[in-house]
Amino acid sequence: MANSQWGNSFITIQDATKHPAFYNRHIKILSNNYKLKIFLVEPPHSYFCGLTTALFMVDVILGLQWGDEGKGKIVDYFAPQYDIIARFQGGPNAGHTLYVEGKKIVLHQIPSGIFHQGTINIIGNGVVLDPVTLKRECDTVASFGIDVRKNLFISQRTNLIIPTHRALDKASESSKGEGKIGSTLKGIGPAYMDKTGRNALRVGDLLEKSFITSYIKLRLKHEKLLDNFHFIEDISAWEEEFFEAIEFLRTLNIVNGEYFINNKISEGKKVLAEGAQGSMLDVDFGTFPFVTSSNTISAGVCTGLGVAPQKIREVLGVTKAYCTRVGGGPFPTELEDATGEELRKIGNEFGATTGRPRRCGWIDLVALKYTCMLNGVTQVVMTKADVLDAFKDLNVCTAYKINGEEKNEVPFQMSRLKIEPVYKTFKGWNTDSSQIKDAALLPKSMSTYISFINEYVEAPVKYVSNGPGREQIVHL
Ligand code: GDP
Ligand code: IMO
Ligand code: MG
Repeated sequence: MANSQWGNSFITIQDATKHPAFYNRHIKILSNNYKLKIFLVEPPHSYFCGLTTALFMVDVILGLQWGDEGKGKIVDYFAPQYDIIARFQGGPNAGHTLYVEGKKIVLHQIPSGIFHQGTINIIGNGVVLDPVTLKRECDTVASFGIDVRKNLFISQRTNLIIPTHRALDKASESSKGEGKIGSTLKGIGPAYMDKTGRNALRVGDLLEKSFITSYIKLRLKHEKLLDNFHFIEDISAWEEEFFEAIEFLRTLNIVNGEYFINNKISEGKKVLAEGAQGSMLDVDFGTFPFVTSSNTISAGVCTGLGVAPQKIREVLGVTKAYCTRVGGGPFPTELEDATGEELRKIGNEFGATTGRPRRCGWIDLVALKYTCMLNGVTQVVMTKADVLDAFKDLNVCTAYKINGEEKNEVPFQMSRLKIEPVYKTFKGWNTDSSQIKDAALLPKSMSTYISFINEYVEAPVKYVSNGPGREQIVHL
């Protein structure tokens, strides 16, 4: 039986190699990312060494609701602990808010780690990229003294949004009338359609001489579709700024994203994948058809960056302490009354990308448990807890009543059903929580609220964000 000097526990290769007896052993060290299990057995036997789980790989931060959960702030908070921050899906429909040197910045295309010198930021192949938005954002970032040519990298497989994608988005939305999705009109749906339809132009194509011919071919295809929609707007100004932005994009670091990121992982670099939108907007599992056009869940990290599933370690799911949604579609806990208005006012719930008022309501644990399951969430981050400070009572949705029956699962077609939320009511904390730094000082009723969420969704709430500032976060 093994009798181990270090106990039967895991130690890192770095620690193991410090032990003098280790040097004479013939052990192949693959990477510092792996944990080794080392047993010291009695002489004349030697050490027994086995490769076990990965230590440092890819962690994920993503939204668990309908977007705008505060992912940008949370990524910015954790960024110093990582070498690389990578966006894996979505496009300029995202609006991630950060505060840098007291100034509010909203990022749409660039990962939220850009303001940390020395952190590499990657736009992955799963993203749809609008060069115009990117150029504008790079200018903002440069005004803070950040040189994007040093710490921003773009996968050559990233799909481009071209001006006619935006026109098609607009035309398609207006043709839907009442049933419109409430798209941000950034061209997301049409750009992903061209990806799956195998028509798209990708960032790597910019470096080919044939780019302009391919562009014209695609534009012609789009023009035929636009004719069907009777779309007559002149988009020549959009095209002019597109070509200016294309020239700029050519000067950035365009890389073979999947090799770039996997090589970094092999070197022991720590990667944080940044989700956009929210899991209830996922094209497969969200409230279809009122969704976005990408896989927003953790599985999207693999296809959107080219990393294998076993490299994903922690999945941090971000949820507000209540719930919001912008655009159309089902929202069982929506409050179309004074309480909803108060949530919107106190929470400053207006879209970071479009400025539209966000629909507000109570936290929906049926949906939250579902998204924790889909993502394999290992830690929950609860944001905007401070927004609930002023509320006397708080409701939490624990079931959906559908045709008189209580259900605990998200149904197939939420938008066709009349769903009545079943609530459990909690006492509010009625305290200013925004200055609290220590978990022990959180109001008792906030801890009770959080414990209930923990138990219901079967994932631990590990962080509570109590204000928009970088430092306003409590580790539980
Ligand atoms: P994202 O898309 O998930 O990054 O979220 P958005 O940036 O669209 O929206 C979140 C909004 O809430 C932003 O205005 C943030 O500054 C703000 N915010 C983030 N965390 C907190 C928090 O804990 N408390 C308050 N009051 N505001 C927060
Ligand atoms: P972040 O990353 C909130 C919503 C739109 C619309 C639907 C489809 O900031 O959380 P699209 O433009 O993708 O065709 O819109 O999805 N939506 C978002 N809502 N936050 C977002 O991103 C969103 N991105 C898209 O409002 O209802
Ligand atoms: Mg947002």
